[in-house]
Amino acid sequence: MSENKNRTYTLTDNTSGETYELPVFPASIGPDVIDVRKLYAHTDHFTYDPGFTSTGSCESKITYIDGDQGVLLYRGYAIADLAKESNFMETCYLLLYGELPTKEQQSKFEHDITYHTMLHEQLMYFFRGFRRDAHPMAVMCGVVGALSAFYHDSTDITDPKHRMVASYRLIAKMPTIAAMAYKFSVGQPFVYPRNDLTYAENFLYMMFSNPAEEYIINPTIAKAMDKILILHADHEQNASTSTVRLAGSSGANPFACISAGIASLWGPAHGGANEAVLNMLEEIGDVKNIPEFIAKAKDKNDPFRLMGFGHRVYKNFDPRAKVLQESCHEVLGELGITDEPLLDIAMELERIALEDPYFIEKKLYPNVDFYSGIIFRAIGIPTSMFTVLFSVARTVGWVAQWNEMIEDPSQKIGRPRQLYTGETGRDFKKVADRI
Ligand code: SDX
Repeated sequence: MSENKNRTYTLTDNTSGETYELPVFPASIGPDVIDVRKLYAHTDHFTYDPGFTSTGSCESKITYIDGDQGVLLYRGYAIADLAKESNFMETCYLLLYGELPTKEQQSKFEHDITYHTMLHEQLMYFFRGFRRDAHPMAVMCGVVGALSAFYHDSTDITDPKHRMVASYRLIAKMPTIAAMAYKFSVGQPFVYPRNDLTYAENFLYMMFSNPAEEYIINPTIAKAMDKILILHADHEQNASTSTVRLAGSSGANPFACISAGIASLWGPAHGGANEAVLNMLEEIGDVKNIPEFIAKAKDKNDPFRLMGFGHRVYKNFDPRAKVLQESCHEVLGELGITDEPLLDIAMELERIALEDPYFIEKKLYPNVDFYSGIIFRAIGIPTSMFTVLFSVARTVGWVAQWNEMIEDPSQKIGRPRQLYTGETGRDFKKVADRI
């Protein structure tokens, strides 16, 4: 990070008149940052920013979002271009290494990932500890965390080779674990991965094939799945990525860090929103009920929010939502689904919301979770598995950010401070003296 020697912000204490110069670090694109690392030492004050609305937690070269323009770049490449021209394995390489792979690099990467897709056989028994009706995200948190107990040979986070082996293992094994969580929930036998299939094809195969008949992969569905994985792969310092970075900053092993990321992603304000959108669309049930739900979303006294709408960073269309809306029509068309009431409701809801002054004033647009669930449902994925798919895709982003954090010479254990407004010191009272 290069300090911009000419640019500082002057902080003035308007009681003492003392001033303090805050250095500015320039971004290659987007907002520059004010370095407050020495603020406490010089002013005996903390900054205060719950939710980190104006706080950069790190320097990163991986993903950039321009929320006002609705721009998302992975290592400088526009998400719409990657969704159209690239594939998920190539995008994984790009996120991990910073460059699009050559043909040779791509085929070696795909081979290495493919040959890590199987799980230690002992892990099969781990699933049996869960109820069959456990939420698959609970299973993901548990089983991914348990990988720490199996792969001791790649947990020395100071060794770049260990970090990359652990990263490959996580990227490779997430679809296998996710498909097993689904099979366990429906009482069907686990399906082993196949090395002759692409990442997206393998995931569909492990999810939907069974020993009783041959499973034919639909290339349109496989391509849609591959595109969905690309769109969900990374997204700057969102809640789950920040969770992974914070957990990793203590030196925790990568499997435990990704398990923490899965837990954070599960929340309905974050990755859990895709499941919540489907539940909401089903609750709305008919386009004639939309005004009632829009009114609820606008009512300050009603905790209801329009799921799949709004974003901390995007104050314009989420570019991923645009791509997913197009994919919706492609997948439904390929499957011959001409009458999907939930898509009708979603599109009418989007039209009404985008014309409503409340949503316009608060710059609330559809986000990545608004359309993804309709595609998942059309493919035959149960609602409870939607966020699991999000976690499969986001694993490459989490591990790329985790590696970047460890390689950052300025990284320290994350340990935020606070504004304390509690009791200032009280003498202990024995229980007999308490009223
Ligand atoms: C993801 O961070 C990422 O990058 C996340 C993600 C990724 O790829 O990692 O993009 C994935 O998590 C997408 C977001 C999915 N969540 C949802 O769709 C849930 C519904 N959306 C909201 O909960 C909300 O919009 C958030 C959580 C997404 C963003 O919340 P913020 O930035 O904290 O904004 P806010 O809650 O302060 O809202 C600002 C105003 C508020 O009104 P006021 O208090 O100013 O009067 O807008 C209102 C909110 O009440 N508002 C909504 C709304 N979202 C915000 N009102 C109705 N419906 C909504 N959906």
